[in-house]
Amino acid sequence: MSNSTDPLIPAGAEGDVNHSPLRKAWQDRNLDVKSRELLDRDASAFLHQSVSTPCLMGVSKVEGLWIEDVSGRRYMDFHGNNVHHIGYGHPRLIEAITRQMQELPFAPRRYTCDVAVELAEKLAAIAPGDLSKVLFATGGSDAVEIAMKIARIASGRFKTISFWDSFHGAGFGASSIGGEQMFRSPIGPPLAGALHVPPFGDYRNAWNVSEGSGDLCANQIRYILQKEGDVGAVIAEPTRAVPYIAPPGFWQKVRDACNEFGALLIFDEIPTGLGKTGRMFSCEHDQVVPDIMVLGKALGGGVLPISAVVCRPELDVTGHFAIGHYTHEKNPVCARAALTTIQIIEQEGLVDNAARVGNQAISLLTQMKGAHPLIGDVRGRGLLFGAELVLDRDTREVAIEAADKVLYKALDRGLSFKTTMGNVLTFTPPLITNETQMDQAMSIVDECITEVERELGIR
Ligand SMILES: Cc1ncc(COP(=O)(O)O)c(C=O)c1O
Repeated sequence: MSNSTDPLIPAGAEGDVNHSPLRKAWQDRNLDVKSRELLDRDASAFLHQSVSTPCLMGVSKVEGLWIEDVSGRRYMDFHGNNVHHIGYGHPRLIEAITRQMQELPFAPRRYTCDVAVELAEKLAAIAPGDLSKVLFATGGSDAVEIAMKIARIASGRFKTISFWDSFHGAGFGASSIGGEQMFRSPIGPPLAGALHVPPFGDYRNAWNVSEGSGDLCANQIRYILQKEGDVGAVIAEPTRAVPYIAPPGFWQKVRDACNEFGALLIFDEIPTGLGKTGRMFSCEHDQVVPDIMVLGKALGGGVLPISAVVCRPELDVTGHFAIGHYTHEKNPVCARAALTTIQIIEQEGLVDNAARVGNQAISLLTQMKGAHPLIGDVRGRGLLFGAELVLDRDTREVAIEAADKVLYKALDRGLSFKTTMGNVLTFTPPLITNETQMDQAMSIVDECITEVERELGIR
């Protein structure tokens, strides 16, 4: 039972990440009366849920790389939920959306509009291989479920293989294929046929090997495809958001196994698509084309919600069912936001920038690893990268509290990011981040790790 007197903390919730003592201490140190009041109102107005409500702080302004809280403090946003590829509030995007709202604010279902068709054509033009048939939805989770429905109908099979530790969205279908306990446990049985495999990742994996986890994982997928004999689809993020990069040849092996046993390959590029990893789509690093690709998040330019499924033309076999009959399916304002976002990414050379500044970040973190025993591993691709903190490099014991401390110290210094798997400092800055900003951010991380190492007596 809770003995907390904090009105933000419901009984029994102390173990929840929303209520970690470090977070509370940070709030006690930083929140002024105005922020407190807003958080209190938020906590009483909204249903509480993990990693969401109660909130850390209130935001009053976002611009470019920056986020400003209710008390006027500014943070470089190296998190941004992967929606802010072009920076928050890009003036060209705001202008295009405003014009679109004046010209055609909505298109009722069963009516099409020029901008929605133009967006579908643009996605077909930039998508890898022959992916060219498109359907829009408003959220990533919904788009993942559309992809699952296409796979079921096209293959006549309902089983899927996905990764433990993955996240594909909060809907029933999406959370069934996801592999995070937080999104699955209390809601009862997941979708039947949602099979999972432990993911690749040489630094930490289910097989306890320090190399070759990619082969073990690919072999396991192949084995299940063969033994089950009736799996409809393998669905995964081509670059794991944790982050982990697929070893060379991994996706080709999975692609081949899917072909051999009649399963479709679905890539969830919701956080990684549109340039995040230094290529327009993360699967381009591996030169493997999925049967279905799912996009979302940054597609709406960090302003509007829009997601998309892009698939091979042969999968256009669902004409007699409604697989994603969403009210805002062809919303012209959302479509305009997506079209303009892609144009900005292309015209401002943001994919190349992500590759260049991402390389800089990885080399800065790698240098830091030389100086900091707390850093066990550095990995990433483009502007999706991270550092795994460990208490001991030999045992690789996870340093969860240390990671949390680094996070809150960084917030004190004006840098926001998130931790994943408890101990991985995970950075996902926008594609507009420049070298100076990257230097600044990584020096903050360096300082914070130094302080935490001193506090823990490991320097
Ligand atoms: C890989 C991946 N898939 C799907 C989703 C779900 O997207 P949405 O929150 O828009 O439903 C997310 C969101 O974080 C994600 O990271």
